[in-house]
Amino acid sequence: MQNRFWRIARRPEGTDFASALELAEAPLAPLAEGEIRIRNSHLSMDAGTRLWLTSREDGYQPPLPLGAPMTGLVLGEVIESRADGFAQGDLVRAFGQWADVSTVDAVMSGALLLDPAVTDRRAWFGPLGMNGWTALWGVERTGAAKPGERVLVSAAAGATGILAVQIAKLLGCEPWGIAGGAAKCAYLTGELGIAGAADYKSDALAEQLDNAGGFDVYFDNVGGPLLDVVLTRMNHYGRVAVCGLLADYTAGTRTTPGEFDQVLMRRLRIEGFFSPDFMHEGPALTERLRAWHEAGDLVMRYDVTRGLENTLTAYAKLFTGGNLGKVIVELEP
Ligand SMILES: NC(=O)c1ccc[n+]([C@@H]2O[C@H](COP(=O)([O-])OP(=O)(O)OC[C@H]3O[C@@H](n4cnc5c(N)ncnc54)[C@H](OP(=O)(O)O)[C@@H]3O)[C@@H](O)[C@H]2O)c1
Repeated sequence: MQNRFWRIARRPEGTDFASALELAEAPLAPLAEGEIRIRNSHLSMDAGTRLWLTSREDGYQPPLPLGAPMTGLVLGEVIESRADGFAQGDLVRAFGQWADVSTVDAVMSGALLLDPAVTDRRAWFGPLGMNGWTALWGVERTGAAKPGERVLVSAAAGATGILAVQIAKLLGCEPWGIAGGAAKCAYLTGELGIAGAADYKSDALAEQLDNAGGFDVYFDNVGGPLLDVVLTRMNHYGRVAVCGLLADYTAGTRTTPGEFDQVLMRRLRIEGFFSPDFMHEGPALTERLRAWHEAGDLVMRYDVTRGLENTLTAYAKLFTGGNLGKVIVELEP
């Protein structure tokens, strides 16, 4: 059986993914012991994967090798299994390949059996997915947000951000967001009903943030110059939960906060966190997220692109702000 997959031919420059990744085709090899084969129905587009495409050796995981298939979270049915606990027809999520069919080691890929009773399976990439786990962990554990505190989230109209602001609200905090453009800010304050939103692409950013009156927690997805703008607006004993550094991913820069001395002046705590570190707590996190989601209190918008051949268009949205909500590629059945 032939399989189409995206191969990493070169390291991408900026958002020029078309010059770096190519759609290839190869026959599927026989399964090894412990492996499963998944017919991908959906691919999750995640901004953090941009780091794996660089040659950086000092990241939180080694770079993906040139010539290898592009790796990412996938969702679909098992079509063949040589792994205990997985049978043909099971719905699973795993770190697989951007391909029609993923072949993975069930353990190494973090393959997880999913409840098919969830009516919209895309939720396994959204509120019930890694973005959900990350948002909950970052607000509650790393950010240590307490009821009544003011929580600010950057890239707030993206997948992780939308969940983080809603979770802050569910935990009794006052959520604020930063996003690019008036439409995204209006979505955050209008549809999600958060306390306020600031547009980092407008000249009014500083004034909009000042209106809030100081933040206790900053859930940072962006880093870069925006971090300096926020550091000078943190309340004493505030916490900065570093989730991601979007400002650096395509620019190839490294965040170097000029206002770092505010950590001492305001007695701040800055701490990074990384979802694979708390994978073992996934089931407990999912249970809480699912209760909120099923009650209608934790919602997600999906930005869906159809067809494996259109994957790169979907991926680029994460770095150009072309998306509102979770970016997903839906594959033909
Ligand atoms: N630590 C972890 O374990 C973990 C796990 C999952 C995700 N993350 C992080 O979460 C963040 C969001 O990832 P995601 O996959 O959920 O993507 P996303 O938020 O759905 O999409 C990215 C959004 O970020 C904004 N953005 C892009 N470049 C920007 C820049 N230079 N400055 C400011 N905003 C920018 C864009 O919206 P605008 O229109 O607002 O610019 C874009 O829509 C990333 O930093 C990612 O690495 C971390």
